[in-house]
Amino acid sequence: MKPIYYPEPFRIKSVEPLKMLTRAERERKIAEAGYNVFSLASRDVYIDLLTDSGTGAMSSDQWAGVMLGDESYAGADCYYKVQENAKEIFGFDYIQLVHQGRAAEKVLLPILLEGKKYAIANMHFDTTRAHVELAGARAIDCTVKEALDTTKYYPFKGNMDTDRLEEHIKELGAENIGVIIMTITNNSAGGQPVSVANIRKTRDIAHKYGIKFMIDAARYAENSYFVKQREEEFKNSTIEEIVKASFEGADCFTMSAKKDAIVNMGGLIGCRDKAVFELVKQRCISFEGFITYGGMSGRDIEALARGLKEGIDEHYLRYRIGQMEYLAARLDEAGIAYQSPVGGHAVFVDAKKLLPHIPYYEFPAQALAIELYLEAGIRACDIGSYMLGNDPDTGKQLEADFEFTRLAIPRRVYTQSHLDVIADALINIKERASSIKGYKIVEEPPILRHFTAKLKPLG
Ligand code: F0G
Repeated sequence: MKPIYYPEPFRIKSVEPLKMLTRAERERKIAEAGYNVFSLASRDVYIDLLTDSGTGAMSSDQWAGVMLGDESYAGADCYYKVQENAKEIFGFDYIQLVHQGRAAEKVLLPILLEGKKYAIANMHFDTTRAHVELAGARAIDCTVKEALDTTKYYPFKGNMDTDRLEEHIKELGAENIGVIIMTITNNSAGGQPVSVANIRKTRDIAHKYGIKFMIDAARYAENSYFVKQREEEFKNSTIEEIVKASFEGADCFTMSAKKDAIVNMGGLIGCRDKAVFELVKQRCISFEGFITYGGMSGRDIEALARGLKEGIDEHYLRYRIGQMEYLAARLDEAGIAYQSPVGGHAVFVDAKKLLPHIPYYEFPAQALAIELYLEAGIRACDIGSYMLGNDPDTGKQLEADFEFTRLAIPRRVYTQSHLDVIADALINIKERASSIKGYKIVEEPPILRHFTAKLKPLG
């Protein structure tokens, strides 16, 4: 029996033309880009899966809101609306607008890490790690070991390994740890969900040792949908109730609204402690702008206020996760491995399994990303050793736990036919996998090299 996937709960009102270059043109473009997908012009890309961040399609209601956005410097209408909606959804008294997720990190993390040495997370996203380090602390990841085996089923591969977390706390000293962070969903482990039971347990451990507990809420709505599907306690709950349960007792949260609030720009900070919030407001004024606009235009704030509601609509979420499941099922049929079960915002193809003859230091996940562009004009990215970079002490290439080629699916943008093009491209690549060669780096900056490095094909 064929599974039923949930179709789009919308129809298309406005379209953006796309063009597919010829194979010869794509060969030239990727060579000119130094085999770095970040250096491709978007007009030369047919299906852009580089990120799901800020790339979603707004609804007609959000676009209508854009025209109503109040551009007052202080006290704009849209500010009150976003406050009201965010307070209702997350159950936090203090909400601060910022222009994106990393701005929230920049404002909040130095407050939490003042005089501290460590932050521990189920997994820090790159920018979160960077802001922990910029605040003078070290970032420690603590994801459950089940995440490491991409083909093994485990319902919550994003979870915190709470035993290891407690060991770390005892070893490092609770007084040295500024914050324990739960990233929902766990992006770097494959967009994998975290159970509410695990969130609660982690929160309780943090509080037992007097440490602040923070949620990185970039994909909190997708996480809540998975909880509803997989966690017995919540099978009859609404998404709103699951969100409330997830955030209950958390001391603060940061959120990139560019994901689950379906806007092109925006972010939020939530706090419960008034003293922390006062510091947040002060830092926000100097880095982001006055507190009632927080680095955003009124029109974008209005779209965010509306998007917050749309992002937790269960019909939308069923379609959204359904897209991932549809693509994953097509890969299952073809025997192509990915982080399974599929995550909430992307299919993370296991390039180590598809291209076993390419060693990590010749970047199999980057090689696969380039093949996808050559095959069908698809832009994906490496989440593996190429992205990880070199050991800062020895200068030697590090080996990542995973070699993922991430196919991040923008929200409400691509149709099922586009998903079929992606699956067909991967199937074609699989057929000629053994002839695909690795890459070497010919030019690289010292940090975050994957954005600007230049590569050359081997062989
Ligand atoms: N936290 C998580 C879990 C993220 O995935 C991101 C961004 C951020 C924080 C930072 O938010 O981009 O608004 O400043 N992730 C994007 C991605 C860039 O492609 O996964 P931002």
